[in-house]
Amino acid sequence: MLQKETIIDLIQTAIEQLNYSYTPYSNFKVGAALLGKNNKIYTGCNIENAAYTPTNCAERTAFFKAVSEGVRDFQAICVVGGKDGILTEYAAPCGVCRQVMMEFCNPDEFQIILATSTEQYEIFTLSELMPMGFGPGNLA
Ligand code: THU
Repeated sequence: MLQKETIIDLIQTAIEQLNYSYTPYSNFKVGAALLGKNNKIYTGCNIENAAYTPTNCAERTAFFKAVSEGVRDFQAICVVGGKDGILTEYAAPCGVCRQVMMEFCNPDEFQIILATSTEQYEIFTLSELMPMGFGPGNLA
């Protein structure tokens, strides 16, 4: 169970990442704040590319930063996003990002915070957003 102050911290950190989002093509800005079980926050923003397909989502930026530093255990992620960085509705993770979460997170425990502000947010488990997901357990 996440503490309220942790939730607020993750939302504020995710919102800050909108400043770094590189989106010359869509101008849809996304920020993420990923909380490790080590209680450290790994940040991410979306990074677009003129060839389009190399674009990396904010969530995967955060995961890959953490994993590249040897961190593989996670509690929660906050994701915020919107056109021009204006947060009017929840920016739910795309299917590819949900699949990356499946690789490293327990789907019944990992918390996904979708927010438009520190006052307006909802929390889902990964299993709620990815029912019957395929993960490492299927190959065991
Ligand atoms: N995007 C994310 O960063 N995360 C998601 O889960 C959905 C989409 C980005 C990718 C692209 O830069 C922009 O949003 C529009 O698709």
